[in-house]
Amino acid sequence: MSKGLKAKLTEYTGEDFYPYHMPGHKRRDFFDFPQNIAALDITEIDGFDNLHAPSGVLCDVENRLARVYSADESHMLINGSTAGVLSAISVCMSGAEGKCGSALIMGRNSHKSAYNAAYICDTPVTYLQESESFLINSEDVEKSLLNEEAMGRRVGCVFITSPTYEGVVQDVMSIAKVCHMHYVPLIVDAAHGAHLGFSEGFAENPLKLGADICIMSLHKTLPSLTQTAVVHLKGERVDRRRLGRFLRIYQSSSPSYILMASIDECTAFLEGESVRRPNHFDEFADRYKGFLSRVKGLKNIYAGGFLEGADGKKCDIGKCIIRDKNGVLSGKKIYDILRSEFMLQPEMAGKEYCLSMFTVMDEDEAYDRMYGALGEIDVNYDKYAEKSKAERSDGRDEGAEIKVYVLKDEYVNSEKGKQKGIRAAWDAECEILDIGMAAGRISAEFVSMYPPGTPIVVPGEIYDEERIGLIADSVRKGLNVQGIEISRDL
Ligand SMILES: Cc1ncc(COP(=O)(O)O)c(C=O)c1O
Repeated sequence: MSKGLKAKLTEYTGEDFYPYHMPGHKRRDFFDFPQNIAALDITEIDGFDNLHAPSGVLCDVENRLARVYSADESHMLINGSTAGVLSAISVCMSGAEGKCGSALIMGRNSHKSAYNAAYICDTPVTYLQESESFLINSEDVEKSLLNEEAMGRRVGCVFITSPTYEGVVQDVMSIAKVCHMHYVPLIVDAAHGAHLGFSEGFAENPLKLGADICIMSLHKTLPSLTQTAVVHLKGERVDRRRLGRFLRIYQSSSPSYILMASIDECTAFLEGESVRRPNHFDEFADRYKGFLSRVKGLKNIYAGGFLEGADGKKCDIGKCIIRDKNGVLSGKKIYDILRSEFMLQPEMAGKEYCLSMFTVMDEDEAYDRMYGALGEIDVNYDKYAEKSKAERSDGRDEGAEIKVYVLKDEYVNSEKGKQKGIRAAWDAECEILDIGMAAGRISAEFVSMYPPGTPIVVPGEIYDEERIGLIADSVRKGLNVQGIEISRDL
């Protein structure tokens, strides 16, 4: 029997691990919360308003949020950006006959919450693929819009992610212009961009570039508690009243006052920062750039933006990609070394790189400890590389047996099986089989690497050699792949 979550958390956080991961407050006592956190944990008693019909103190927080972010309207989310994404897509896909969306155009790199919204709304989806430079082209958006129009379908919205989990910032202004020429609203999932626009060193706030709805997780990059987020509206292209309906559907009817107080405190922090120059965000941008210029001198280890030479505008500041320039140490290996030998806890391990996050709450210790660790790995690189090669030739990671969910052939060949789309495939009769047998079969599940939660395979998509190889390789590298079954020979 384990000792219990609270005891485990207390023990872990008492150790000297440094957090290069979310939440953005970096476990600092950012708002002077009382020792007895339960003292603030109330419900909708007199004087404390109601999130689902705000008119008092909670309405004040939302108005303040709207002011700080230049939105027309902002709503607190206490179920994270997930609730905002579900609500935003749902509102665009609903409405009176002839007025509701009958097709959704979205980035293939979207978070799983967008796919879940497509499932709930049971809508056909057209994907926008990123180019080789990880950008979504506004010309591709235009082509997709024209295609949908030619098919007689009304596009409910275009949905893109900017910045991405790895920090890639899209050309929101050009994409918004195209969408608006076609009278289609643009939703920007800026779950990772609640800090945008607060420093010259960052990209601009998507609402100022034409987004009609923008969703931001405060907890990811700002000092605020996990699950706190906000959905903003701008302009008249989206039905504001109906957005409230979906927020009531997807959000808890018992919103936490502790989380809402955290949103309020975070907003007050942002208000202060918006009038102070240079502010804490400017200092963060300078510090981070200083750190990057120090690590540039390393021989074997790269640390910097996902897009090399990134300046904070096209690639967000703070998302630090760490990889072996020689391609010997995998992302998971670097992650494990940082954790076990240096007590540095990165955000995630990818196949080729490990991601560490810096935020406005990090002070010199964060930069010095990471620089020190990367420097040591660089100096002792041969030792690490040899050890890693030896482990690989051991075949230690090769024993995983992977099974995937696919549609039954009887279903695919049936009348019902002609239905295409996420809903039909996710709900259909399925079977489980060895991944080696899956080529050419239709997936009945989402398979994603977590984090970040972007699917490798979507229900209804066909397993090809590339997808099979990617899943098998990721599992063997010890990454967290969801939506499959794994067994290991012990
Ligand atoms: C791009 C993106 N959108 C939305 C979400 C959901 O955010 P939350 O965890 O605040 O619900 C995530 C979470 O990782 C994400 O990466």
